[in-house]
Amino acid sequence: MNAHTTQKVASEKQAVSAIGVREVPRVDEPPIIGSTVRFQKDQLAFVLDLQQKYPDVAKARILHLDWHFVFNPAIIHEINVRQWEKFNKGWLAKTLWKLFLGNGLVPNDGEHWRRQHDLIKPGFHRQRIDSYAPVMLDETLQMIERDFQDGTIRDIREDMNNLALRVVGRTLFGADMSDHQGAVFKAMHNISKILVEHINLPIPTPRWWPSASNRRKIDAIEELEEVIKRLIAERRASGKDEGDVLSHIIFAKDPSGKGMTNKELRDEAMTLLFAGHETTAHTMTWAWYLLAKNPHVAEKLYAEIEEKVGNRPIQLDDLDNLTYLHQVIKESLRLMPAVWTYTRCPTEDVVIEGYRFPKNQPIFISQFALGRDPRIHPDPLTFKPERWTREYERALPRGAYVPFAAGPRVCLGQGFAQMEMKIVLGTLIQHLVPALKPGFEPDVVTELSLHPGERGLQILVKHRDKQVKKQAANQAEQSA
Ligand code: HEM
Repeated sequence: MNAHTTQKVASEKQAVSAIGVREVPRVDEPPIIGSTVRFQKDQLAFVLDLQQKYPDVAKARILHLDWHFVFNPAIIHEINVRQWEKFNKGWLAKTLWKLFLGNGLVPNDGEHWRRQHDLIKPGFHRQRIDSYAPVMLDETLQMIERDFQDGTIRDIREDMNNLALRVVGRTLFGADMSDHQGAVFKAMHNISKILVEHINLPIPTPRWWPSASNRRKIDAIEELEEVIKRLIAERRASGKDEGDVLSHIIFAKDPSGKGMTNKELRDEAMTLLFAGHETTAHTMTWAWYLLAKNPHVAEKLYAEIEEKVGNRPIQLDDLDNLTYLHQVIKESLRLMPAVWTYTRCPTEDVVIEGYRFPKNQPIFISQFALGRDPRIHPDPLTFKPERWTREYERALPRGAYVPFAAGPRVCLGQGFAQMEMKIVLGTLIQHLVPALKPGFEPDVVTELSLHPGERGLQILVKHRDKQVKKQAANQAEQSA
């Protein structure tokens, strides 16, 4: 290096410090193991504690990596939207998801992600999604009629999972999943559990590794793969465009005229099956829980539906008029977001809001922490759908409310999920008074999504009749 270059580098360093580039503060933690044990013991408590102590961002060592936990919405907005190209999905996505989702849209990055995204996105066009409303309604009404006998106790988490799976099966894949729902639920459950065990291993086990847990993982994945491969083969063989997403992805061509390979189709279909049902199912499960805990909200919601829809089934055209239903869903996603965290990894050193985010060091964004931040939401622990006025939303800092992420990597199924949640929850509330099994409180488990764990969400099925309506009104009066 000659004298001129040395001088240039030195003055660049000064310029950097002159604009105040800071290292992200490291949490107080022991050497080597860092925060691994604390994080694994209770992830939600760990993240909320960090947020309280470090309002912008903090660095903690978990296993072999330094994780950057970002709490400042302005930084999140930069990562999601303005500087998104400098980030990819990182280590967790590549190891955790690879085996299961391959190179499907969720874990994918770079040029291949862009190609696949451009091929798949038209399959989620508004008009196509709108045409799914009758299926969502039909499946919900069938479920209530078939399974929800008055006075019985049910695990609504399982019901919501089965319902969401049937909806995804019929709408996206043109398939009746009822024969497979037990197997798929079990497989998803196993995959979810095993993938979480996998997070705790610094070196992921390869597919061929002959351990019992690996065998269970592979069996669960193969069970799902089989269903998916059969659906793809049948559709290819028929050569018929059924107007669903499966037909769309099978027949879509990129600008060079090339379609997807069987492996690409397998990966995308697994991704849509996975991303498209547990997320929505768990959001609806938590929404039902929050409604049961807040009867005055449930009754206000019922009143809105009674006024705007009456006793007839909810139609697509009703959805825009159901403002309170929209607010209830927004508020549920704030307090109990099914996707409670997502991760990113800088592909180069990036400076945001004066903090340096080093290349390859993973970033942890938590919708759960953002939703409970008193600097963003006053009285954050109160379930108050009324807060979601237009003015409230406009006043929120950008990056503060991202249950579906944001920017180019935003959830592709957001419109689908919003519509499904409105139809299902609106229909449920038309027929039932939300109530938990007496004395039951759910666990809160942070696996791939936030869910109520093995015990599920035990509810008491209470059909609306005059007497029940009166009781609910009394309850609402007392708790208001
Ligand atoms: C309430 C329900 C849902 C929530 C909260 C949700 C949330 C999210 C979030 C946070 C991401 C970004 C993940 C990341 O960047 O690592 C995502 C991505 C994605 N979601 Fe959803 N999702 C929901 C429902 C759905 C549905 C119903 C579908 C499909 C039918 C779907 C398909 C996808 C896909 C394909 C991606 C990847 C998009 C890309 O990177 O190109 N999601 N979702």
